[in-house]
Amino acid sequence: MPSTEITIRNVTFKNPVLTASGTFGYGLECEAFLDVSRLGGVVTKSISRKPRDGNPPQRIAETTAGMLNSIGLANVGVDVFLQSKLPLLRERGATTIVNIAASSIEEYCEVLEMCEEQEGVSGYEINVSCPNVKDGGLNFGTHCPSVAQITRELRRRTEKMLAIKLTPNVTSIGEFARACEAEGADAVSCVNTFIGMAVDVRTRRPKIATITGGYSGPAIKPIALAKVYEARKAVSIPIIGIGGIMSAEDAIEFMIVGASLVQVGTALFIDPAAGVKIAAGIEGYLAEQKMDSVRDLIGSLDTSMQPSLIAAGWS
Ligand code: FUM
Repeated sequence: MPSTEITIRNVTFKNPVLTASGTFGYGLECEAFLDVSRLGGVVTKSISRKPRDGNPPQRIAETTAGMLNSIGLANVGVDVFLQSKLPLLRERGATTIVNIAASSIEEYCEVLEMCEEQEGVSGYEINVSCPNVKDGGLNFGTHCPSVAQITRELRRRTEKMLAIKLTPNVTSIGEFARACEAEGADAVSCVNTFIGMAVDVRTRRPKIATITGGYSGPAIKPIALAKVYEARKAVSIPIIGIGGIMSAEDAIEFMIVGASLVQVGTALFIDPAAGVKIAAGIEGYLAEQKMDSVRDLIGSLDTSMQPSLIAAGWS
């Protein structure tokens, strides 16, 4: 059997497929559909210091080839998460990556420090890229010195895997990835959602209450792939590819472009077990291609010119 394991820092993921933050709750809501220990990992909904109600409804709207969301980082807060969600994830054998959101650097540090004291946290993904909140989110994520400072402060506080989740809503994602790498991040997650909007033409009202939201799903996959490609050229730390992955083939594309892990998000709204199925599909592909390890896929993109074109005089 080909090996599907990927190690980042001190975490070995049994396969490269994780659930994307905000699309799988705290990893327990979908238990009727799958065994979470079969996923590469579960990335939790963003956790903040205090519980958050989030934005007013309507918070989600389906579009032709994707989904708009504006949840506003609704979550139970770190106390409830650590008391009543994390122990169950640990019991189920999930590899748990805690996604942290905050409106100040102090809040990021406090939540991380509280998680540090608990068993069952394999690592962190830091959300500096939520497009749906006034404080934190894109204020941080589109300002490179802030992203660097957050990474630096958190790196000083943990030996666990530290990934920074980047926004695609910047001119150069490579610059942000470089700042994360320079400050000691173990990985960057590329990408969070694109700012988008949709309008109900009968009422002429926006389809979601905050007018704009985060756009995800198959429509963004080619753009997300290009962002991963840009980040790949900018840094040598692992990249976690995210953006419209609906099938094993989509996930494999991200890995060929340079992602070490992938996250599945919007697809889970159609099939909560999509992550496990995509992991099985990747394994099937490796066997079919007679590859020994999924690691051989990472960054295996061939950008050389085809010999027939060279022969025809193209250079
Ligand atoms: O609105 C939200 O909670 C979305 C979060 C995110 O995209 O990071």
